Amino acid sequence: MDVAAALALARRRGVDRLDAQVLLAHHLAQPRTWLIAHDDAPLPAEVQQRFTADLESRAAGAPLAYLLGEREFHGLRLAVTPAVLVPRPETEVLVDWALALLGAQPGEQTGEQTDGQPGAPRVIDLGTGSGAIAVSVARRCPAARVSATDIDAGALAVARANAQALGCAIELHQGSWWSAVAGQRFELALSNPPYIAGDDPHLAALRYEPRHALTPGGDGLDALRMIVAGAPAHLEAGGWLLVEHGFDQGAAVRALLVDAGFETVQTRRDLAGHERCSGGRWGAGPAAESHVTGSRGTAGGDAKHAT
Ligand SMILES: C[S@@+](CC[C@H](N)C(=O)[O-])C[C@H]1O[C@@H](n2cnc3c(N)ncnc32)[C@H](O)[C@@H]1O
Repeated sequence: MDVAAALALARRRGVDRLDAQVLLAHHLAQPRTWLIAHDDAPLPAEVQQRFTADLESRAAGAPLAYLLGEREFHGLRLAVTPAVLVPRPETEVLVDWALALLGAQPGEQTGEQTDGQPGAPRVIDLGTGSGAIAVSVARRCPAARVSATDIDAGALAVARANAQALGCAIELHQGSWWSAVAGQRFELALSNPPYIAGDDPHLAALRYEPRHALTPGGDGLDALRMIVAGAPAHLEAGGWLLVEHGFDQGAAVRALLVDAGFETVQTRRDLAGHERCSGGRWGAGPAAESHVTGSRGTAGGDAKHAT
């Protein structure tokens, strides 16, 4: 079998041409453009075998990211396994908002962290999965001290590997939502929790991803309710909570935040124009400003705010 025959096989199996090219290039350890100039190149037997197996999986609905073992998120290449949700582009809205609150420069990227300094803002990512949010924030805002949690040990292992591979020191904790960081407070709390309703028919198409990463059951809002309800005990005064939610859950999440006593409650839209992330500031007071900074090391432990 040569390159052209492999791509023709993919077409007959109903696999998208771009997906097939990406998979074949991956198995050949070549860039995708190489395939165009080498369509008569013979495939080694083991490449044929792995490519054919992947075509079957892809045709059955397995995410391309699981077959490749990686996904790009916020400009970073993250390892993914079936233990974690495949990071979605919508979640980059949450990361961009977090970075704006932290005063990080767009595009800034370094593996060198300076966390642990007095005044380093403490950031928590609840339900970190692959570590997509935590690692992106740690990379773009090296001054932050980033923690991340998940209920699932398999997900934490993936997050740990990604943090190590990308040179980020992230504190990882296993446990359900805030119970994983009992007694700790943060300047910024972030979460992309499971939010699909338990009876949503779209869940069938997402069957390869862990169900507990997709839905908390019921109306889909239970995890968001727990995260919002627990946030006041874990945020410094003036700290922010930002959460991702379903396109039709914006009003419900804003109501949760307002009812819990959050101020400056607002929502950001994703690139498709859907309401995607909502957040609010905890106990901001009249003089609060727009960036979060750490409070550790300040007299009396009161929160500082700087623009
Ligand atoms: C929608 S995924 C988000 C993963 C990752 N943050 C991202 O944006 O790609 C939700 C994550 O929450 C985790 N999770 C589910 N229930 C949880 C709970 N009770 N406490 C902590 N994490 C939980 C899942 O294991 C999963 O990794």
